[in-house]
Amino acid sequence: MPTPIKTAKLTIDDKSYDLPMYAPTVGPDVLDIGKLYGQADVFTFDPGFTSTAACESTITYIDGDKGELLYRGYPIEQLAEQSHHLEVCYLLLYGELPNKEQMIDFENRVTRHTMVHEQMHNFFRGFRRDAHPMATMVGVVGAMSAFYHDSTDINDPWQREVAAIRMIAKIPTIAAMAYKYSVGQPFVYPKNDLSYAGNFLRMCFSVPAEEYVVNPILEKAMDRIMMLHADHEQNASTSTVRLAGSSGANPFACIAAGIACLWGPAHGGANQACLEMLREIGTVDRIPEFIARAKDKNDPFRLMGFGHRVYKNFDPRAKVMKQSADEVLDLLGIHDNETLKVAKELERIALEDPYFIEKKLYPNVDFYSGIILEAMGFPTAMFTPIFALSRAVGWIAQWKEMISDPAGKIGRPRQLYVGAPKRDYVAVEGR
Ligand code: SDX
Repeated sequence: MPTPIKTAKLTIDDKSYDLPMYAPTVGPDVLDIGKLYGQADVFTFDPGFTSTAACESTITYIDGDKGELLYRGYPIEQLAEQSHHLEVCYLLLYGELPNKEQMIDFENRVTRHTMVHEQMHNFFRGFRRDAHPMATMVGVVGAMSAFYHDSTDINDPWQREVAAIRMIAKIPTIAAMAYKYSVGQPFVYPKNDLSYAGNFLRMCFSVPAEEYVVNPILEKAMDRIMMLHADHEQNASTSTVRLAGSSGANPFACIAAGIACLWGPAHGGANQACLEMLREIGTVDRIPEFIARAKDKNDPFRLMGFGHRVYKNFDPRAKVMKQSADEVLDLLGIHDNETLKVAKELERIALEDPYFIEKKLYPNVDFYSGIILEAMGFPTAMFTPIFALSRAVGWIAQWKEMISDPAGKIGRPRQLYVGAPKRDYVAVEGR
């Protein structure tokens, strides 16, 4: 438990209550209300958790006002430029950047666990071919607890470690199999002499009829996309993983719950929704029509890829992604990409519009990612599965942190009940 730095006083009617406050390494102080109900017989009320810290964590920090994102203290821009996804996985899992030997050992352990149990192939065949790959991933990742019993005991640190490596190693294989199944092509086995990102690209795009050579431009862009999506504090899907894990559920079931939550268009599903929106806008001259709809209170339409609960400035990942989109399209010889043109003009117009300025709405991680993924050859339905496989390490790191917290307990929020008061049953004749 953190050490109190001062006490806040809460007065309700004529009684006052002392609430301890804790100081973070960086960010706002927190008010501990854990004993409030016992002392004052009141709950706090914060449905979207807009002002509520659900846990203590050492993994990721976001400064929404500055547009800053730190993984274990390292700025995302520096990691995106100088690191690679497996090194970021090591950092998120163990808290420090690895030395050479540690990196080689970690890379070997992940690489040698990228295959899935052969019987999982049959599991895929139970789905309709036109199933969304996210539906398949939720099912297959959840089913991992039916195949890997020897790493589901959450009280055994060694089994937790094995489950973490298995998850990170196998989720790209599962995502690629979901894609292959959806396009009716044979599954492609991982190759141990390829990089993590290169392996994923080959498992998605290689066909038996010809050799597949990993394009280094796409490999680097893929690896960067993975790093940018790896973790992000207590977002909805990470909070889902933590809540599921707090009941003692096995890690594969918890990650499957996280994948299900990520699928929503307000969260990880936004990258697919954003590209579909950019396609619907089609040309720059139609942008004002969509901006007007986004501002219209009576229209549920929102600009996909815009806005964020925490960032009230540019999402630093969006900046890196925008630069990467320019580089990748240019290197691929795609110069007049209409979708990119619409995206840039939409960003420019929106950021000059008083509505977006006043509400501090900026492009988020999902605004440009789809443009790169489409240029790589992925269908929009694969955008969120790629987000999920990238975020798997963040979910696992946060799950491990929660499980190893001795003060941890099952998450069980209370409510503001506004339903019917107690009343007696009335037989149907009397209704
Ligand atoms: C991700 O949490 C994370 O860290 C998530 C994530 C991660 O890495 O895990 O960063 C990944 O999920 C990014 C967000 C992807 N989602 C989208 O791009 C979908 C579009 N964005 C919105 O749905 C919205 O901005 C959210 C869901 C992202 C944030 O919603 P909040 O924090 O609940 O804010 P809100 O809905 O209360 O909006 C505040 C105001 C509202 O207007 P008022 O009611 O105050 O008048 O801003 C408006 C909203 O109507 N608004 C938008 C808008 N987003 C917010 N108006 C138009 N277009 C938008 N995109």
